[in-house]
Amino acid sequence: MNNPLSAKTIEIIKNSAYLVTSNDILITKRMYQIMFSKYPHFEKQFKNTPEDQYMKLAEAISAYAMNIEKIERLKPALRIIARIHVKRNVLPSQYFKVGGVLLEAMEDVLGDRATLEFIDAWREVYNYVARILIEMESGFYRKKGEVKELL
Ligand code: HEM
Repeated sequence: MNNPLSAKTIEIIKNSAYLVTSNDILITKRMYQIMFSKYPHFEKQFKNTPEDQYMKLAEAISAYAMNIEKIERLKPALRIIARIHVKRNVLPSQYFKVGGVLLEAMEDVLGDRATLEFIDAWREVYNYVARILIEMESGFYRKKGEVKELL
């Protein structure tokens, strides 16, 4: 089960949504730079051109920022992402690493504007979305007869 997002986190994300939406491409670009330098073996799972992938992830992050109060409505979109992840064999254990990389990219791009409470709020949102995806993906793996460890 996923704990609901705290009221404080929702407030912080709402009040700073513009920071993320107006820097989403820069953040995702930086994120992929950090990810492929720290975890070069992840690169072979990606087939999109890097530009396409920045755009897709940037759109997703902005969508979470803008829809933070009704994030449950994004589940159909998350289901599509989960299916693509399963095709690329994304593993539950990769989520923690990618989450760290996303927060690092936000700090690099936003500098002082990425306050401690902003980063904590995004950590909570990332973990929340990650848990939804991991659960969906485990269901798809089970259907394929594969079992992937849960976090
Ligand atoms: C909360 C966490 C995550 C979110 C919101 C997210 C979001 C996305 C989105 C929006 C796409 C594009 C789907 C499309 O093509 O329409 C995607 C694809 C993909 N994601 Fe994730 N993702 C997350 C975690 C991860 C993790 C942990 C990995 C592991 C390395 C990963 C690897 C991939 C791969 C390999 C693709 C396919 C891209 C390609 O074919 O080039 N993602 N993800």
